[in-house]
Amino acid sequence: MTNAPNIILVGPMGAGKTTIGRLLSQSLEREFYDSDRVIEENAGADIPWIFEKEGEDGFRKRETQALQGMLEEHAQTPIVLATGGGIVMREENRQILGEQPLVVYLYASVAQQLQRTAKSNHRPLLQTGNPRETLQRLFDTRDPLYRQVASVIVETDSRHPKNVAKKVLDAI
Ligand code: S3P
Repeated sequence: MTNAPNIILVGPMGAGKTTIGRLLSQSLEREFYDSDRVIEENAGADIPWIFEKEGEDGFRKRETQALQGMLEEHAQTPIVLATGGGIVMREENRQILGEQPLVVYLYASVAQQLQRTAKSNHRPLLQTGNPRETLQRLFDTRDPLYRQVASVIVETDSRHPKNVAKKVLDAI
């Protein structure tokens, strides 16, 4: 058992949570988890399938279960955890995150989010409508919520992933 806290990364789609999370886990020699992958493993299905069959609400319930499950399972050993962009939407999740000592908001502007998600076809929320408008709408709702749960904010627009990871390491 160690006293070091988990590092939990929050932020929008395209902030680089998975990339940065992997870099941090390598530097710190800790296990890395990505809540989206855990949800998929638990469901035995991918995220587009879950959204299609169970709706966003079904996905969000699975997201809460995955978050709780991971934190319980790794209560003795600190991990690095990348979360899905919508993790802050449920009050329950915000409470869970609020109890974690080290939640890092990886900030990315909507323009950057758009660029980094342009080739993605596994994000159901961006498959219909205008992606820029969707990302802007999500940002307006979620940016204050990321700020509410985070203890550290790192701007990612102008930084190479290695420098973002370094910035996080400097902040902890
Ligand atoms: C979502 C973000 C995705 C994934 C799902 C919903 C969101 O994760 O959880 O498609 O609501 O913003 P990433 O932020 O890792 O793309």
